[in-house]
Amino acid sequence: MRVMGMVHQFQRLQLPAREVVRCAVDDMPLEVFAGDTVLTAVLTHRRNLRPFEFADAARAGFCLMGACQDCWVHLETGERVRACSTQVVEGMRIATNLGRCFHAK
Ligand code: FES
Repeated sequence: MRVMGMVHQFQRLQLPAREVVRCAVDDMPLEVFAGDTVLTAVLTHRRNLRPFEFADAARAGFCLMGACQDCWVHLETGERVRACSTQVVEGMRIATNLGRCFHAK
């Protein structure tokens, strides 16, 4: 679990007293808190959400409330979801590069 002072976009002011949920983002295992959105899960662990499809840049969401469409990611199920309005569930596998396929198991 990351804490304040690390290099990531979001910083928790305090660790919530919630159940820990395990997920994977781009094959990297993460532990987050129940109720966290995918965007919170990713940005509490790194600086950006996904590569920008039109330039050599990165995106981190913009509105954080489901309106701007800047935070689309894929789930292992093939579903495309907004990271800012999708809660992480146990075992969820997320791909942040929309052109990327999950590795065969
Ligand atoms: S950050 Fe705007 S829709 Fe998700």
